[in-house]
Amino acid sequence: MSDYIHGYALDEQARLVAQADYWRERLILREVNFAEGDAVLELGCGVGAVLGILGQAYPSLKLAGIDLQPTQIDYAKQYLAALQLTADLRVGDASQLPWPDSQFDQVSTTWFVEHLPRPELALQEAYRVLQPGGQLSLTEPDYMTIKIWPDNRDYRYLISGLCDLLSQAGGSPALGRRLGPLLESVGFCEVQNRAWGYHYFQTVTNQELKLFVEYVEGWLAPAVPQMVQKLGRDPKRLAAGLDCFRQLPQQPEGAVTVTIYRATGQKPLQG
Ligand SMILES: C[S@@+](CC[C@H](N)C(=O)[O-])C[C@H]1O[C@@H](n2cnc3c(N)ncnc32)[C@H](O)[C@@H]1O
Repeated sequence: MSDYIHGYALDEQARLVAQADYWRERLILREVNFAEGDAVLELGCGVGAVLGILGQAYPSLKLAGIDLQPTQIDYAKQYLAALQLTADLRVGDASQLPWPDSQFDQVSTTWFVEHLPRPELALQEAYRVLQPGGQLSLTEPDYMTIKIWPDNRDYRYLISGLCDLLSQAGGSPALGRRLGPLLESVGFCEVQNRAWGYHYFQTVTNQELKLFVEYVEGWLAPAVPQMVQKLGRDPKRLAAGLDCFRQLPQQPEGAVTVTIYRATGQKPLQG
């Protein structure tokens, strides 16, 4: 995954922890459905930030995670140990899982399958390691849906650059919209693919817009130099687009909307 757009620097690892914390109640713990003692595997677990949130909220879970990058797993081991959580953490490819069949009650992914050139391979493996009746849950964004007000051409240029960068690296910026048929094609039943809208607007009574803008800027700004180098995009327009985004909390009518998808499917009880 040499083109992985977020990279593996230490500040990116800390960003993943902050990102999961931002989405803790808003998304990660939203409509989850764990039973006492469930065995839960996260594919593309990164630094263990999401596993940490699940383990803190549901201490009886048996946690496991896999990531391609040894540095992510090293971080995850230390991070989860500091939270006094234990987890079976492995370095490896989600399309070739090292666990035997039917090991897990739940498999989940967050901000992960969007990066895969062939997401169906990881989903087939998720299917294999799930027990009959077990559930797969995917939480993925749709970068094309990040809209702002006031609208701005340079901002649109920037966000289309982000989508092209992800596509060039083999990912799918709008994968969230396609998750339902993808899960069915792998054999999952009871498939749902829900779109959750998040809308933040300028108000004197809360900081939600400012917080969201700061959060997005944390991963959008580091991608800008890659848009120049890898896609030949105009650095001035990208900088103007980013500046416009940063200024939203100072705009009297500033607002951002994004759609995030949650898809779930069950492994049939009888194959
Ligand atoms: C954006 S991070 C998300 C991490 C975590 N899910 C979170 O929300 O904090 C995506 C992770 O997927 C990992 N990854 C990419 N391709 C992979 C693969 N084929 N198998 C396992 N992990 C992979 C990357 O190394 C990276 O840590």
